[in-house]
Amino acid sequence: MKFDGMKISELKAGETINGIYILKDAEIRVSSNKKTYIDMVLSDSTGEIAAKWWDAGEEQFAALVPNKLFYVNARVDLWRDMLQLNIGKMQIADEEDQKRISEFVQAAPREPEEMLKEVYAYTARIRSPEIRNIVMYILDKKEEKLMYWPAAKLLHHSVRSGLLYHMVRMLKCAEALSGVYDGINTDLLFAGVIIHDMAKIGELEANELGMADYTREGKLLGHIVMGVEEIEKAGRETGASEEIILLLKHMVVSHHYEAEFGSPKKPMFLEAELLHHIDMIDARVYDYQNATRDVEPGNFSEPVWSLDKRSIYKPMLKDS
Ligand SMILES: [Fe+2]
Ligand SMILES: [Fe+2]
Repeated sequence: MKFDGMKISELKAGETINGIYILKDAEIRVSSNKKTYIDMVLSDSTGEIAAKWWDAGEEQFAALVPNKLFYVNARVDLWRDMLQLNIGKMQIADEEDQKRISEFVQAAPREPEEMLKEVYAYTARIRSPEIRNIVMYILDKKEEKLMYWPAAKLLHHSVRSGLLYHMVRMLKCAEALSGVYDGINTDLLFAGVIIHDMAKIGELEANELGMADYTREGKLLGHIVMGVEEIEKAGRETGASEEIILLLKHMVVSHHYEAEFGSPKKPMFLEAELLHHIDMIDARVYDYQNATRDVEPGNFSEPVWSLDKRSIYKPMLKDS
């Protein structure tokens, strides 16, 4: 059997395929006719797809290792308007192919080295040495993991290097806004953008493929409280003033805006207010684009949980 690596976004109902995919999740279930089957999610760099392995049982299930590449022989079915794979055969890919797993994970559309350089370029533009030193101190500690860390386990930017991508797009947005309105302190705004989610490195545990889960500290404290602790430490180590430490802490504390989303205080100065909105814009843009990526113009996406279960419309425009 030849596995040609058919991409998930190119699959069409009715065809039989031999592909290579990452096994994201697998559960054994019992069907209505009392037979066991395995319910799976497979993924590659272009997306995810549900898969059913009918009549498979404990023996097949025992050979399924999550986050590994598998050779998959299947028929592409259409079920409730969604494509899904009906597995014929499936086996773990050999060691040689496993080494190529990074080619199969979803990643930010830009190279991390390039994005990290941009973050440092913005940091260099922070004029206040106190603020710049805090940002440099935190970047220095996190730099290595920032290269591949996702921004979330499941929500926006939950891909390899997603946190860095989120940061760079927000920095550009911050720069553009400060060109529109006078009187914005870009030292605070750039610093706030760079550090606001930095404690996600710690809130989440991720591997180099950008696959993440919450840590114990992440579950018990979350990245807002953990971020405040990091600023406190960075501020003390670099000898920053009380005022600077307090301002940066407030930006992290208030960036989710609402108490129900984890912020105990709402923003109380302009740059903190802007940080929240820039954060929302970037998450929303990501969610809209992600939801409609594989939708044909003139159609609606599946309901998107993070957008209050709205189905997103893809406009029919000639040049889109
Ligand atoms: Fe956040
Ligand atoms: Fe964020």
